[in-house]
Amino acid sequence: MSSTHIIVTKQHGYAIVQFNRPDVLNALNMKLMEEVVGALESLDKEQDVRCVILTGNEKAFAAGADIKEMADASAIEMLTRDQFARWDRIRKIKKPIIAAVSGFALGGGCELAMSCDMVVASENAKFGQPEINIGVMPGAGGTQRLTRAVGKVKAMEMVLTGRMISAEEALRWGLINKVVPVEYYLEEAKNWAREIASKPPVAVRLAKESVLKAFDTTIEGGLEFERKNFYLLFASDDQKEGMKAFGEKRKPEWKGK
Ligand code: CAA
Repeated sequence: MSSTHIIVTKQHGYAIVQFNRPDVLNALNMKLMEEVVGALESLDKEQDVRCVILTGNEKAFAAGADIKEMADASAIEMLTRDQFARWDRIRKIKKPIIAAVSGFALGGGCELAMSCDMVVASENAKFGQPEINIGVMPGAGGTQRLTRAVGKVKAMEMVLTGRMISAEEALRWGLINKVVPVEYYLEEAKNWAREIASKPPVAVRLAKESVLKAFDTTIEGGLEFERKNFYLLFASDDQKEGMKAFGEKRKPEWKGK
């Protein structure tokens, strides 16, 4: 399965969506983003896909929204185009998404990585919100997701100076999960995808939904939501199988229902 700006490949239990505009460091134009979001929505419906990896190439995850596509637009054109609205659809994806980042993850590229559920990076990854340097500011979630991930002062530092941070800094700041040598970043993401794909799918879905709930609810509302999802899992065959297998000291066999 392939299209102009992305390459989609399926492996056992998971899929990889790779951005494919290497000449412009995977700048995220509207066509590429429509293809990415469309691919995620269609993979979300496929039963044999349990997890998705988003990636670029060694030099760039993505160097941001396509500046040339926006440069001459008026405010009203930007408003009616509302190109970042399609990014909201990523929040609705039920399966876990792992960003495998190497090279530049800037502006929209950093925002896209932060829209994923986990981030594995190579040692040469660089994260940043450099929009301030071109007369704008983050527009695809940067001010909100970055602040939640790293806190106010560090978010201010990145957004107001436009400075790039290294993979090591990003790890220390809690923006990403893991840093590995460049030759292993995709392999590491695949290991995680395989591990998640081996878990009971309904529990994975409800667990992801519950963690995300923490971002837009009170602690009380979130705890109630979590508890209901926990109880709901007792309606699944996988819960019965998981607990039975534990008692019988054997590996569970998941049915996904
Ligand atoms: N949009 C369009 N084209 C881009 C691009 C972008 N975001 N980033 C890089 N490119 C293009 C360059 O124009 C260049 O194309 P040409 O060969 O046709 O000139 C090609 O990719 C290679 O880039 P460079 O020659 O600049 O490569 P470099 O190694 O010297 O520098 C870089 C790399 C520091 C990442 C530099 O390309 C850069 O600063 N890119 C822009 C980063 C940026 O400002 N991102 C934010 C965009 S706005 C945004 O994302 C808004 C939002 O919130 C969603």
